[in-house]
Amino acid sequence: MSFTRELLDTLKYLNLARTNMVAAWPKSFYRRELIHQKVLGRNIFILNRPEDVQRVMVSNAGNYKKSLANRQALKPILGQGLFVSEGKLWERQRKLLSPSTHRNRLKGYAQTMVETGRETVEKLNGSDESQIVDLTEELTLLTSDIITRTMFGVKLGERNQLLYQAFQDYLASHGRIHMSELIGLPAWIPRPGQGKGKAAVRLFDSVILSVIEQRQKSNDRHDDLLEMLLEFRDEQGEEMGFTLLRDEVASIYLAGHETTAITLTWAFYLLHEHPEVKQKLWDELESVLEGRDPTFDDVPKLAYTRAVVEESLRLYPPVHVFSRQALGKDVVAGIPVPKGSFMTISSYVLHRHKLLWENPDAFEPERFLPGRSGDVKQYSYIPFGAGPRICMGKHFGLMEAVLLLALFAQHYDCKLKSGHPVEPLGRMTLRPHMGMPMRMVKRSRS
Ligand code: HEM
Repeated sequence: MSFTRELLDTLKYLNLARTNMVAAWPKSFYRRELIHQKVLGRNIFILNRPEDVQRVMVSNAGNYKKSLANRQALKPILGQGLFVSEGKLWERQRKLLSPSTHRNRLKGYAQTMVETGRETVEKLNGSDESQIVDLTEELTLLTSDIITRTMFGVKLGERNQLLYQAFQDYLASHGRIHMSELIGLPAWIPRPGQGKGKAAVRLFDSVILSVIEQRQKSNDRHDDLLEMLLEFRDEQGEEMGFTLLRDEVASIYLAGHETTAITLTWAFYLLHEHPEVKQKLWDELESVLEGRDPTFDDVPKLAYTRAVVEESLRLYPPVHVFSRQALGKDVVAGIPVPKGSFMTISSYVLHRHKLLWENPDAFEPERFLPGRSGDVKQYSYIPFGAGPRICMGKHFGLMEAVLLLALFAQHYDCKLKSGHPVEPLGRMTLRPHMGMPMRMVKRSRS
């Protein structure tokens, strides 16, 4: 492809990306291995080869920091929290918080996940089958309830709806990834619509602070993430400053619920579109669970359910783009990478890349079944990221998605509102544009 054509493609992409990053990727990118462009003097690389993904995210990760695109969109709400922090602060906080999602804690979490999921099943049972439910909203409220119960030992009650609304309003004002950020223009360049987000952050903050206060006032002992933050003392015996404590609670709250809710939303949509897959899922649920609620011990037996989750994460990765900036020089795919270069990895493109997958656009959970792992090449599938910044809640999130999918699919056949157009909207996360209105049709065991 000629240099001018490629430059035009890149500029067109950057402009379209403001509205919808995934719809904007040119078709040709799904066959290309690497795109390198200079835009306004900035080097931009788009990486589609697993070995280059590995280089930037894993083996030479120390040479790359998260770029402005991440920080600018999230800083007003996450401050210095784990998702956006860098360097020594990130290292210390990651070490401190990682035990909260360690495998040895998952059993206890599984019970809370299913108990909380059951409350939503029962709530929906009370409603009329012809009623249309916004599935993303229901699942977001549910996973929000789960993350606050498991990590902060608090039941949100009516505050759940407030947090949900605050975050929706925040997304409406800050959810777009701006062209200026992708090419690293400075933060003082005005971004449209930011003012509205301030009220959303205030509302969000008031609820997060009420959660922390509730715990500070309580005499109960907990063994959870909030306790780790409250008990922390640095080398000088100082406790964690309140602002950082607030930022970490906000970060775990946000990182730990919306992504799982979106994963499940896409899974139910894909199942609706593929009745033959849905039937296989139902067959597995019937043979493993025989109508009872899933438990932690069932998770390894629910191989097909897990494969449905993993395949949904392939086609619709909630975190659909990674952007990093080079701290020093590097070489990627034999091409010199100058200091300051912007490295973009779209998991949406990578997961559907023509040279990496067989039938890349087809929904085929079988490729994730045990024994078929050769179908998935390392670093061509990164729904949880890779390297030192890999998702801290990977095992938590995967288990939660498997348990909730099993629970809901046993009780309901989710039917998309007829005629509703479904299109992925790539902003801060990859959500269905115009939501996912579904009828929750009750299932009975035959
Ligand atoms: C299906 C569900 C989830 C998906 C798809 C997902 C995806 C991701 C991805 C892709 C990243 C890396 C971002 C980057 O490198 O720029 C990430 C980071 C993170 N995730 Fe998740 N996540 C999920 C669930 C969770 C849960 C349940 C938690 C908490 C319990 C969590 C906590 C975090 C944290 C704290 C980070 C930042 C880690 C760091 O920078 O050190 N995530 N997640």
